[in-house]
Amino acid sequence: MHILFLGDVMGRPGREALRRELPGLRERHAPDLVIVNAENASGGVGLAPPEARELLALGADVLTGGNHTFRFKELQALMNADHRVLRPANRPPGTPGQGMTVVRTAAGVPVAVCSLLGRVFMEPAECPFLAVDALLASLDPEISHVVVDFHAEATSEKQAMAWHLDGRATLVAGTHTHVQTADARILPHGTAAVTDAGMCGVAASVLGMDPAIIVKKFVTSLPARFELAKGEGTVQGLLVHTDDATGRATAVFPIS
Ligand SMILES: [Fe+2]
Ligand SMILES: [Fe+2]
Repeated sequence: MHILFLGDVMGRPGREALRRELPGLRERHAPDLVIVNAENASGGVGLAPPEARELLALGADVLTGGNHTFRFKELQALMNADHRVLRPANRPPGTPGQGMTVVRTAAGVPVAVCSLLGRVFMEPAECPFLAVDALLASLDPEISHVVVDFHAEATSEKQAMAWHLDGRATLVAGTHTHVQTADARILPHGTAAVTDAGMCGVAASVLGMDPAIIVKKFVTSLPARFELAKGEGTVQGLLVHTDDATGRATAVFPIS
């Protein structure tokens, strides 16, 4: 199986980049499943229902979440109605939506996709390590393909999660820091991992935002309203090849 995982989509430039690049990526890499981190898809912060529907219509099979997922309260109803739109699993009990879903490829192979939030230099969340253990324990043992989006700030926490899941997940992809790291690899027990998948958005920016505003904020230490950077977006993420029988990764390729 081929799985395409794309990093945080930053607003309209990110969505337009997906619209432009996804057909070619499909042609070249024939992904059986496309997973997209969508926490920034609406204006750069949050996900609203129109942009969620737009990304699904563009060909995303599952949208994963992050610290900004709940910015628009209208998303709650959509998440409750559509299991393809995830929020981080390790939120307090009673949080709307779901943190894991099982989707089937066109060939009928089930794939579990899970969204998790880190806790280092982040807002409070439940333990992502114990949360993912509980999620995996709840899965039908027939499901061998598991993709985890670990939305976290600290490199150490993201790498620790990859090792925690080595042999139990197909892919552990870091998101949230928006800069693709050069460490895509397969761990000894067959889990593909990358510290950060990167961003779908304007590269000439600070994490997808207008650099002039961010620079001014750092220089002056005054509050500023962030705006999306203007220009053409790029698409970043990774492609994973898997062993259909075991669900373990056989190859991983960064895409930028
Ligand atoms: Fe993000
Ligand atoms: Fe984030």
